[in-house]
Amino acid sequence: MRILVTGGAGFIGGHLAEAFARDGHDVVALDNFEPFYDVGIKEHNVEAARDAATESDGSYELVHGDVRDEDLVGEYVAEADVIFHQAAQAGVRTSVEQPQKVDDINVSGTLNVLEAARDSDTERVVVASSSSVYGKPEYLPYDEEHPNTPVSPYGASKVAQEQYTRVYNEVYGLPTVALRYFTVYGPRMRPNMAISNFVSRCLNGESPVIYGDGTQTRDFTYVGDVVRANAALLGTDAADGEAMNVGSTDNIEIQTLAEEIRDQLAPDLELEFGERNDADAEHTHADISKAKELIGYEPTTTIREGVEQFTEWYQENRDWYEPLVRNS
Ligand SMILES: NC(=O)c1ccc[n+]([C@@H]2O[C@H](COP(=O)([O-])OP(=O)(O)OC[C@H]3O[C@@H](n4cnc5c(N)ncnc54)[C@H](O)[C@@H]3O)[C@@H](O)[C@H]2O)c1
Repeated sequence: MRILVTGGAGFIGGHLAEAFARDGHDVVALDNFEPFYDVGIKEHNVEAARDAATESDGSYELVHGDVRDEDLVGEYVAEADVIFHQAAQAGVRTSVEQPQKVDDINVSGTLNVLEAARDSDTERVVVASSSSVYGKPEYLPYDEEHPNTPVSPYGASKVAQEQYTRVYNEVYGLPTVALRYFTVYGPRMRPNMAISNFVSRCLNGESPVIYGDGTQTRDFTYVGDVVRANAALLGTDAADGEAMNVGSTDNIEIQTLAEEIRDQLAPDLELEFGERNDADAEHTHADISKAKELIGYEPTTTIREGVEQFTEWYQENRDWYEPLVRNS
């Protein structure tokens, strides 16, 4: 199958490209190498996908390009059977500083993909959405019927992206799915996220810093589970037009997570607390029954297993990953 992964040099897109190439698909990764964090990490993502292709019957091509470039997007969408649209300006805090840029990439970029797919024989467009669409919790865990009241420009852009995706399904019959990811982590993850920060700081004898009082809760989702949710959408029309939560097996308070990482890596360190950012959601917790029912989604990695796997990976790749993480 010919698969286009936008944002394919990024954290999740890189894992998708790698997995699809390993499974023997012909993968094109389109990415503009946005310097939101050190692009050296993206080069490693590309290398992993390229290696996977050489070890299988698949192929891998990297296209340096921007999802805001209508012509370029049109060209590569036309050649693909399935599109996994991951390109975005991620990061809630960046969105508070640069809301228009976020809108441009996340909303107009998505419209370019949808519009090009409408004109092509695309089998399916899978769009990366986010738990940030929910914002203020009226109840937990969030199911997909929960109101969308985002608390950041990033969340608002993801609501708009999803709504366009749904409308292209309804109005033009374009086969689409939106997956609402809940805080994804794992090897090669983005810097400046709780798990990469805690591990990096503890291994360097620095206290892990918690922004807020630590009672915030998250469904941390292992990237391997996210890859499986996406892969389950290949070769089927299940879940057509739907938006679904892709969360994890368990929910954890940030302070508990920090303590567990600290206890494993540097038990003598005290936790530090910084100022909470209002654009960060207080709690995220996914009801995943819809994805389970429609595509058989079943996350398999618990937070403890996932953190252990990430920490092991971090230590094995510390020579290149750590300087890039700490540089971002
Ligand atoms: N990581 C998470 O916890 C999480 C949670 C919810 C949703 N998401 C969504 O998943 C997707 C992937 O996130 P990620 O964590 O891998 O982030 P990431 O920043 O690692 O990946 C995004 C990639 O998109 C690329 N990109 C940005 N602007 C672009 C543009 N204009 N044209 C082409 N490429 C562009 C970046 O260079 C980057 O490589 C995003 O849509 C994000 O909003 C991520």
